[in-house]
Amino acid sequence: MAIELAPLPLPPSADASKFTEFGKEVKGVDPGNLSPKELEEIQQLLYKHDALLFRNCELSPEQQYALTKAFDPASESYGHGNNKTESTKKSILHPDLKTIPRVPQVQLIGNGTVYNHEGLAEARLKHPSHTTFHKTRVSPEDEAAGATRFYRWHIDAALYKLAPPKVTTLYGLTVPQGPPQVCRYDDGTGDELPVPLGTTAFVSGRTMFEILPPELKSVAVRARVRYAPHPYVWMSPARALSTGLGIESEGKELPLSELPEWTEEDVKVFPVLWKNPVTQALHFQVHPAGAQELLIAALPEGAKREGALFPDGAHITDLKEVRDLLYKMQRPAIAPSLVYPHDWHEKDLVLFHNRGVLHSVVGAFTPDQVRAFHQCNLAASSDPVGPSEEDVARWA
Ligand SMILES: [Fe+2]
Repeated sequence: MAIELAPLPLPPSADASKFTEFGKEVKGVDPGNLSPKELEEIQQLLYKHDALLFRNCELSPEQQYALTKAFDPASESYGHGNNKTESTKKSILHPDLKTIPRVPQVQLIGNGTVYNHEGLAEARLKHPSHTTFHKTRVSPEDEAAGATRFYRWHIDAALYKLAPPKVTTLYGLTVPQGPPQVCRYDDGTGDELPVPLGTTAFVSGRTMFEILPPELKSVAVRARVRYAPHPYVWMSPARALSTGLGIESEGKELPLSELPEWTEEDVKVFPVLWKNPVTQALHFQVHPAGAQELLIAALPEGAKREGALFPDGAHITDLKEVRDLLYKMQRPAIAPSLVYPHDWHEKDLVLFHNRGVLHSVVGAFTPDQVRAFHQCNLAASSDPVGPSEEDVARWA
């Protein structure tokens, strides 16, 4: 059977003209048993469309691991490094992960208590809630009436020592049904987005770059981000913005001297734009919560200086300045019309290009709403590639 593609089911909130390339439903293949030829085709499609949906799949943890690993055969360990996450008690990621004992690269995530699951006698899961991460929260009354927020826009990546995974696979096993919710931005814009209960929200990093005005495109193509050492521990006392797109600058981050042992050599400095290996497009891929400094190169020779920002380059170390500039560049791309909120069905498998999209957990469940997903991503065998000299010449 040949591979067939269908458009993703876009909600009425989405601007369809911005989703012509983004996201496809794939039919006619079994993602757990792909032939080498099908796998090759799926890889090309993933990089071309950034998110692929397979419905009604049967997928064991072993098959999910094999599929994820096929995108980067030299990768081996879970994207955040299991033991590291487990031993780093302070990390904000710690409570969200339960490992499948047989296949430790696959994580069980969700909500409520799950029994006798793939070798886990009992797993208590908690859907991450903005109420424990954002500086402000939706009031309990509004939450009961269905209002919610994006939890945290991110890339799946340790951002320290390990390279960001190329692909993440998310497989929905138990999906509680419930009324839709309204995701509020609460940033003074009045923006809000109707979402299915417990959606995963995606935005395209490619669109994030493409909609920038020329002067910010020029900054983006010249900029690199330095992430904090052990960023999830570093940020643990800090609180997020109401949009989930970064952290409030209140000086709450842990001092570097209080972090677990770290070395300069393992600190990650990544380009702001990551080059798609298939389409060669540039994707704006910054994990805003972990960013600590921005390094902006001077304009290349021959570039127009008039109206340019940072024409002689800059090294921005003031956290608020770093965050404000990133926010200015990233916020436009999470506008309601540019978000794809996936409406999960049981046995949905979503494969996403982790180096080409940003995503966020959304919504709130009650403890009796049981949700069980398998998630897998693997620390990559190499770091992402930034803009080429031609890209810099073109966009700076
Ligand atoms: Fe994630």
